[in-house]
Amino acid sequence: MVMGAVWDTLWLNLSAATMAVGGAPYGLIEDAAIGISGGRLAFVGRRADLPAPPGTLAHRVRDGEGGVMTPGLIDCHTHLVYGGDRAREFEQRLGGASYEDIARAGGGILSTVRATRALDEDALVAASLPRLDALLREGVTTIEIKSGYGLETDTELRQLRAARRLGELRPVDVRTSFLGAHAVPPEFRDAPDAYVDLLTREMLPRAAEAGLADAVDAFCERIAFSPAQTRCVFARARALGLPVKLHAEQLSDSGGAALAAEFGALSADHLEYLSEAGAAALARSGTVAVLLPGAFYVLRETQLPPVDRLRRHGVPIALATDCNPGSSPICSLLLILNMGCMLFRLTPEEALAGVTRNAARALGLDDRGVLAAGMRADAVLWRIAHPAELAYAIGLCPRAGTIRTGELLPQDVGHAAISASR
Ligand code: NIG
Ligand code: FE
Repeated sequence: MVMGAVWDTLWLNLSAATMAVGGAPYGLIEDAAIGISGGRLAFVGRRADLPAPPGTLAHRVRDGEGGVMTPGLIDCHTHLVYGGDRAREFEQRLGGASYEDIARAGGGILSTVRATRALDEDALVAASLPRLDALLREGVTTIEIKSGYGLETDTELRQLRAARRLGELRPVDVRTSFLGAHAVPPEFRDAPDAYVDLLTREMLPRAAEAGLADAVDAFCERIAFSPAQTRCVFARARALGLPVKLHAEQLSDSGGAALAAEFGALSADHLEYLSEAGAAALARSGTVAVLLPGAFYVLRETQLPPVDRLRRHGVPIALATDCNPGSSPICSLLLILNMGCMLFRLTPEEALAGVTRNAARALGLDDRGVLAAGMRADAVLWRIAHPAELAYAIGLCPRAGTIRTGELLPQDVGHAAISASR
């Protein structure tokens, strides 16, 4: 131990893409110093501004070897826990069938519901771990996981429990969203309102009571739930004290964004068909627009989300994988950064803010997403010279190490690119 040391760790010889607003692009600090104490960031600034010689400031000094540190990545919209796959539907879509045709014929979400209902909790966890591990290899430290492939109480709760267990098995924070209103289950095909009734009276309260839902989501769309039905779900969520979010304006303009805004939603997601009025409503309520370029790509959508409209209204934009077996079988958040730029014309800086600062906000988390003193010390060290490289390259993962609540993950300790010194 160093006499008089105040911090646990001090990182030197790196740049910091802090993603803090108001300074340089990316909140970039060159020749930075990052001090960590008790799992929190204690100092984020220029090395030249350190209050004392490095060796006297921390128990351990780590060498970033010229890399770039960013906040830990946050995947704020996933359906990661499910059974089966939909590769056959992929073939059908390539043959000309549309996502909506397949859904109306009882495939799509309902085919994954059948496969998910057939799995017990252990099997669901086992099926989901490889997907989670792929995301973690790319520096994800917080992930949102939805239910929505059970559509009856037991399986919905089982999905949420499996999601929670993933967070115990791996070094990642899992935030769960109850998405019982994802599709009308076959048992209620001719009585969707009766399903909404069951959902609001039994399914959602049970999930809330068991502490399994951090938020409530719904799919407001002509092949799913109407605005009136979504309103019932949101009203129940509000009564239970849970924040809401919404799959909105993905395939058509159903007015979902305005409804989400009315309920002060954390986020409205997809938004390809978002209207001017919808964007204004999101801006007024401070709701984050979560764009999902993976689903846009896989569904060969041609309607682009109105990025300029969102910018003009000052709506914060997040990006996520939407990892799911149908519209986005994608387990790479770095690929999503590239797609956000190439398909939606975000700047690499906007894309990175979309998986850090704005993604944290989309989950209602104000203790992460930027590197600043007082925030949780969740960060990733990348073997790159400039943060734009994260959105630029495809198929290359330059992660050198992940830091979670201050600690370099055990598998990254001793990594060639990270050394400890005094
Ligand atoms: O976000 N839009 C609705 N839900 C998912 C798709 C789920 C599925 O096809 O299984 C989405 O795209
Ligand atoms: Fe989704």
